[in-house]
Amino acid sequence: MIVGFCGSGSMAAAMARGLSGQVDRMLFSDSGSGRAGELAAELGGEAVGSNAELADRADVVVLAVKPARLGDVVGELAGAKVVVSLLGATSLETVSDAFPEAAVIRVMPNLGVEVRKGVLCVAGAPDSYVRGLLESLGHVVELPGPQFDAATAVMGCAPAYLALAVEAIADAGAANGLDEELARELVVETTAGTAELLRVQHPADVRKAVASPGGSTEAGLEALDREGAREAFGAAVRASLERMRG
Ligand SMILES: NC(=O)c1ccc[n+]([C@@H]2O[C@H](COP(=O)([O-])OP(=O)(O)OC[C@H]3O[C@@H](n4cnc5c(N)ncnc54)[C@H](OP(=O)(O)O)[C@@H]3O)[C@@H](O)[C@H]2O)c1
Repeated sequence: MIVGFCGSGSMAAAMARGLSGQVDRMLFSDSGSGRAGELAAELGGEAVGSNAELADRADVVVLAVKPARLGDVVGELAGAKVVVSLLGATSLETVSDAFPEAAVIRVMPNLGVEVRKGVLCVAGAPDSYVRGLLESLGHVVELPGPQFDAATAVMGCAPAYLALAVEAIADAGAANGLDEELARELVVETTAGTAELLRVQHPADVRKAVASPGGSTEAGLEALDREGAREAFGAAVRASLERMRG
Protein backbone atom coordinates (compact mmCIF):
# COMPACT_ATOMS: atom_id res chain seq x y z
CA MET A 1 0.00 0.00 0.00
CA ILE A 2 1.18 3.52 -0.77
CA VAL A 3 0.52 6.35 1.68
CA GLY A 4 0.89 9.91 0.39
CA PHE A 5 1.31 12.90 2.69
CA CYS A 6 0.00 16.17 1.30
CA GLY A 7 2.05 18.50 3.50
CA SER A 8 5.34 17.53 5.12
CA GLY A 9 5.35 19.56 8.34
CA SER A 10 5.50 18.56 12.00
CA MET A 11 2.50 16.23 12.07
CA ALA A 12 3.20 14.57 8.72
CA ALA A 13 6.76 13.91 9.89
CA ALA A 14 5.57 12.42 13.20
CA MET A 15 3.02 10.16 11.49
CA ALA A 16 5.39 9.12 8.74
CA ARG A 17 8.08 8.19 11.27
CA GLY A 18 5.53 6.14 13.19
CA LEU A 19 4.38 4.39 10.01
CA SER A 20 7.90 3.79 8.76
CA GLY A 21 8.42 0.13 7.83
CA GLN A 22 4.69 -0.61 7.89
CA VAL A 23 3.68 0.56 4.44
CA ASP A 24 5.11 -0.29 1.02
CA ARG A 25 5.92 3.27 0.10
CA MET A 26 5.45 6.82 1.38
CA LEU A 27 5.09 9.84 -0.87
CA PHE A 28 5.42 13.46 0.27
CA SER A 29 4.55 16.91 -1.05
CA ASP A 30 5.13 20.43 0.27
CA SER A 31 4.64 23.97 -0.96
CA GLY A 32 8.28 24.49 -1.87
CA SER A 33 10.21 24.41 1.42
CA GLY A 34 12.02 21.18 0.58
CA ARG A 35 10.63 19.44 3.68
CA ALA A 36 9.06 16.72 1.49
CA GLY A 37 12.49 15.85 0.11
CA GLU A 38 14.05 15.84 3.59
CA LEU A 39 11.39 13.49 4.95
CA ALA A 40 11.67 11.23 1.91
CA ALA A 41 15.44 11.06 2.36
CA GLU A 42 15.10 10.32 6.08
CA LEU A 43 12.47 7.60 5.72
CA GLY A 44 13.25 6.15 2.31
CA GLY A 45 10.15 7.55 0.61
CA GLU A 46 9.72 9.85 -2.36
CA ALA A 47 9.01 13.56 -2.77
CA VAL A 48 6.56 13.95 -5.65
CA GLY A 49 6.37 16.81 -8.12
CA SER A 50 2.74 17.71 -7.50
CA ASN A 51 -0.28 16.99 -5.33
CA ALA A 52 -2.03 15.58 -8.40
CA GLU A 53 0.73 12.95 -8.76
CA LEU A 54 0.41 12.21 -5.04
CA ALA A 55 -3.35 11.63 -5.36
CA ASP A 56 -2.88 9.54 -8.47
CA ARG A 57 -0.26 7.20 -6.98
CA ALA A 58 -1.27 6.92 -3.32
CA ASP A 59 -3.83 4.41 -2.03
CA VAL A 60 -4.34 6.65 1.01
CA VAL A 61 -3.81 10.43 1.01
CA VAL A 62 -3.07 12.00 4.40
CA LEU A 63 -4.19 15.62 4.35
CA ALA A 64 -1.52 17.29 6.51
CA VAL A 65 -1.66 20.94 5.48
CA LYS A 66 -2.90 23.77 7.68
CA PRO A 67 -6.72 24.03 7.63
CA ALA A 68 -6.56 27.34 5.73
CA ARG A 69 -4.78 25.56 2.83
CA LEU A 70 -7.62 23.08 2.20
CA GLY A 71 -9.02 25.18 -0.66
CA ASP A 72 -5.58 25.30 -2.33
CA VAL A 73 -5.16 21.53 -2.51
CA VAL A 74 -8.68 20.20 -3.10
CA GLY A 75 -8.60 20.55 -6.88
CA GLU A 76 -5.14 18.99 -7.19
CA LEU A 77 -6.10 16.04 -5.00
CA ALA A 78 -9.40 15.39 -6.79
CA GLY A 79 -8.32 11.87 -7.83
CA ALA A 80 -7.72 10.71 -4.24
CA LYS A 81 -9.43 7.42 -3.35
CA VAL A 82 -9.11 7.54 0.44
CA VAL A 83 -8.48 10.78 2.35
CA VAL A 84 -7.35 10.85 5.98
CA SER A 85 -7.83 14.45 7.09
CA LEU A 86 -5.71 15.73 9.97
CA LEU A 87 -7.09 19.26 9.61
CA GLY A 88 -7.79 20.93 12.94
CA ALA A 89 -11.20 22.56 13.44
CA THR A 90 -12.45 21.21 10.09
CA SER A 91 -15.43 18.85 10.23
CA LEU A 92 -15.68 15.48 8.54
CA GLU A 93 -18.62 16.89 6.54
CA THR A 94 -16.53 19.80 5.22
CA VAL A 95 -13.75 17.51 3.99
CA SER A 96 -16.22 14.92 2.65
CA ASP A 97 -17.98 17.67 0.67
CA ALA A 98 -14.60 18.74 -0.71
CA PHE A 99 -13.82 15.17 -1.83
CA PRO A 100 -17.17 13.72 -2.93
CA GLU A 101 -15.53 10.81 -4.79
CA ALA A 102 -13.32 9.69 -1.90
CA ALA A 103 -13.79 7.79 1.35
CA VAL A 104 -12.96 10.43 3.96
CA ILE A 105 -11.88 9.85 7.55
CA ARG A 106 -11.17 12.58 10.08
CA VAL A 107 -8.29 11.93 12.48
CA MET A 108 -6.94 14.18 15.20
CA PRO A 109 -3.58 12.75 16.24
CA ASN A 110 -1.00 14.01 18.68
CA LEU A 111 2.75 14.03 18.44
CA GLY A 112 3.09 10.71 20.30
CA VAL A 113 2.33 8.95 16.99
CA GLU A 114 6.01 9.41 16.17
CA VAL A 115 6.87 6.77 18.80
CA ARG A 116 3.63 4.81 18.23
CA LYS A 117 2.26 6.05 21.54
CA GLY A 118 -0.07 8.70 20.20
CA VAL A 119 -3.71 9.37 20.82
CA LEU A 120 -5.85 9.44 17.67
CA CYS A 121 -9.45 10.69 17.74
CA VAL A 122 -11.30 9.32 14.72
CA ALA A 123 -14.57 10.17 12.96
CA GLY A 124 -15.84 8.36 9.89
CA ALA A 125 -15.57 4.73 8.90
CA PRO A 126 -12.00 3.67 8.16
CA ASP A 127 -11.62 0.35 6.33
CA SER A 128 -9.68 -2.38 8.10
CA TYR A 129 -6.39 -1.39 6.46
CA VAL A 130 -6.58 2.27 7.53
CA ARG A 131 -7.85 1.30 10.97
CA GLY A 132 -4.85 -1.03 11.36
CA LEU A 133 -2.47 1.77 10.39
CA LEU A 134 -4.07 4.13 12.91
CA GLU A 135 -4.01 1.52 15.66
CA SER A 136 -0.31 0.93 15.02
CA LEU A 137 0.29 4.59 15.92
CA GLY A 138 -1.30 4.54 19.36
CA HIS A 139 -4.58 4.67 21.22
CA VAL A 140 -7.56 5.13 18.89
CA VAL A 141 -10.76 6.74 20.19
CA GLU A 142 -13.90 7.10 18.06
CA LEU A 143 -15.33 10.53 18.69
CA PRO A 144 -18.52 12.35 17.65
CA GLY A 145 -17.71 15.36 15.45
CA PRO A 146 -18.96 18.05 17.88
CA GLN A 147 -16.42 16.91 20.49
CA PHE A 148 -13.38 17.18 18.22
CA ASP A 149 -12.43 20.76 19.09
CA ALA A 150 -12.49 20.16 22.83
CA ALA A 151 -10.60 16.87 22.39
CA THR A 152 -8.02 18.64 20.23
CA ALA A 153 -7.52 21.31 22.89
CA VAL A 154 -6.82 18.53 25.38
CA MET A 155 -4.95 15.76 23.54
CA GLY A 156 -3.65 17.57 20.47
CA CYS A 157 -2.10 20.45 22.39
CA ALA A 158 -1.28 18.67 25.67
CA PRO A 159 2.10 17.23 24.60
CA ALA A 160 3.31 20.85 24.53
CA TYR A 161 1.81 21.64 27.96
CA LEU A 162 3.28 18.51 29.50
CA ALA A 163 6.64 19.25 27.89
CA LEU A 164 6.49 22.73 29.46
CA ALA A 165 5.85 21.21 32.89
CA VAL A 166 8.78 18.82 32.45
CA GLU A 167 11.00 21.71 31.33
CA ALA A 168 9.98 23.89 34.27
CA ILE A 169 10.49 21.17 36.90
CA ALA A 170 13.87 20.19 35.43
CA ASP A 171 14.94 23.86 35.28
CA ALA A 172 14.00 24.24 38.94
CA GLY A 173 16.09 21.15 39.72
CA ALA A 174 19.05 22.64 37.86
CA ALA A 175 18.59 25.96 39.67
CA ASN A 176 18.88 24.03 42.92
CA GLY A 177 22.14 22.29 42.19
CA LEU A 178 21.41 19.40 39.83
CA ASP A 179 23.28 18.95 36.60
CA GLU A 180 20.96 20.19 33.81
CA GLU A 181 20.90 16.96 31.81
CA LEU A 182 20.54 14.81 34.89
CA ALA A 183 17.62 16.97 36.06
CA ARG A 184 15.87 16.47 32.70
CA GLU A 185 16.55 12.72 32.75
CA LEU A 186 15.08 12.42 36.26
CA VAL A 187 11.94 14.33 35.33
CA VAL A 188 11.44 12.61 31.97
CA GLU A 189 11.71 9.12 33.47
CA THR A 190 9.44 10.19 36.34
CA THR A 191 6.91 11.41 33.77
CA ALA A 192 7.01 8.10 31.88
CA GLY A 193 6.49 6.13 35.11
CA THR A 194 3.71 8.43 36.26
CA ALA A 195 1.96 8.03 32.90
CA GLU A 196 1.94 4.24 33.41
CA LEU A 197 0.56 4.67 36.95
CA LEU A 198 -2.13 7.04 35.70
CA ARG A 199 -3.37 4.31 33.38
CA VAL A 200 -4.47 2.30 36.41
CA GLN A 201 -4.99 4.93 39.12
CA HIS A 202 -7.05 8.10 39.29
CA PRO A 203 -4.88 11.28 39.22
CA ALA A 204 -6.19 12.34 42.64
CA ASP A 205 -5.10 8.98 44.11
CA VAL A 206 -1.62 9.34 42.64
CA ARG A 207 -1.39 12.84 44.11
CA LYS A 208 -2.52 11.64 47.53
CA ALA A 209 -0.15 8.67 47.49
CA VAL A 210 2.86 10.94 46.95
CA ALA A 211 1.79 13.80 49.21
CA SER A 212 1.73 12.54 52.77
CA PRO A 213 0.20 15.07 55.20
CA GLY A 214 2.69 17.69 56.29
CA GLY A 215 5.32 16.41 53.86
CA SER A 216 7.40 18.11 51.18
CA THR A 217 5.14 17.17 48.23
CA GLU A 218 2.16 18.63 50.08
CA ALA A 219 4.11 21.86 50.48
CA GLY A 220 4.88 21.77 46.75
CA LEU A 221 1.23 21.17 45.82
CA GLU A 222 0.16 24.05 48.06
CA ALA A 223 2.66 26.30 46.28
CA LEU A 224 1.26 25.18 42.89
CA ASP A 225 -2.27 26.01 44.10
CA ARG A 226 -1.15 29.43 45.39
CA GLU A 227 0.49 30.18 42.04
CA GLY A 228 -2.67 29.16 40.17
CA ALA A 229 -1.31 26.11 38.30
CA ARG A 230 -4.74 24.52 37.85
CA GLU A 231 -6.28 27.75 36.57
CA ALA A 232 -3.32 28.22 34.24
CA PHE A 233 -3.92 24.83 32.58
CA GLY A 234 -7.63 25.65 32.30
CA ALA A 235 -6.74 28.96 30.65
CA ALA A 236 -4.43 27.17 28.22
CA VAL A 237 -7.19 24.79 27.09
CA ARG A 238 -9.65 27.70 26.70
CA ALA A 239 -7.13 29.78 24.75
CA SER A 240 -6.44 26.88 22.35
CA LEU A 241 -10.17 26.42 21.80
CA GLU A 242 -10.71 30.13 21.15
CA ARG A 243 -7.87 30.20 18.60
CA MET A 244 -9.23 27.05 16.93
CA ARG A 245 -12.70 28.52 16.62
CA GLY A 246 -11.23 31.71 15.15
N1 LIG B 1 1.38 19.75 14.92
C1 LIG B 1 0.53 19.03 15.65
O1 LIG B 1 0.85 18.59 16.78
C2 LIG B 1 -0.84 18.70 15.13
C3 LIG B 1 -1.72 17.94 15.92
C4 LIG B 1 -2.95 17.56 15.39
C5 LIG B 1 -3.35 17.98 14.13
N2 LIG B 1 -2.51 18.76 13.40
C6 LIG B 1 -2.99 19.19 12.08
O2 LIG B 1 -2.08 18.76 11.10
C7 LIG B 1 -2.07 19.72 10.03
C8 LIG B 1 -0.62 20.11 9.76
O3 LIG B 1 -0.09 20.74 10.93
P1 LIG B 1 1.48 20.90 11.13
O4 LIG B 1 1.68 21.33 12.53
O5 LIG B 1 2.19 19.70 10.60
O6 LIG B 1 1.75 22.16 10.13
P2 LIG B 1 3.12 22.63 9.45
O7 LIG B 1 4.29 22.11 10.22
O8 LIG B 1 2.97 24.09 9.21
O9 LIG B 1 3.10 21.88 8.02
C9 LIG B 1 2.22 22.19 7.01
C10 LIG B 1 2.73 21.56 5.73
O10 LIG B 1 1.80 21.83 4.68
C11 LIG B 1 2.55 22.12 3.51
N3 LIG B 1 1.75 22.80 2.51
C12 LIG B 1 1.20 24.06 2.52
N4 LIG B 1 0.57 24.29 1.34
C13 LIG B 1 0.71 23.16 0.59
C14 LIG B 1 0.31 22.80 -0.71
N5 LIG B 1 -0.40 23.63 -1.49
N6 LIG B 1 0.65 21.57 -1.18
C15 LIG B 1 1.38 20.70 -0.41
N7 LIG B 1 1.80 20.99 0.84
C16 LIG B 1 1.48 22.23 1.32
C17 LIG B 1 3.69 22.97 4.03
O11 LIG B 1 4.67 23.07 3.04
P3 LIG B 1 6.10 23.79 3.30
O12 LIG B 1 6.90 22.77 4.05
O13 LIG B 1 6.59 24.03 1.92
O14 LIG B 1 5.81 25.02 4.11
C18 LIG B 1 4.10 22.13 5.24
O15 LIG B 1 4.96 21.08 4.86
C19 LIG B 1 -2.92 20.92 10.47
O16 LIG B 1 -4.17 20.87 9.80
C20 LIG B 1 -3.10 20.72 11.95
O17 LIG B 1 -4.34 21.18 12.41
C21 LIG B 1 -1.28 19.11 13.86
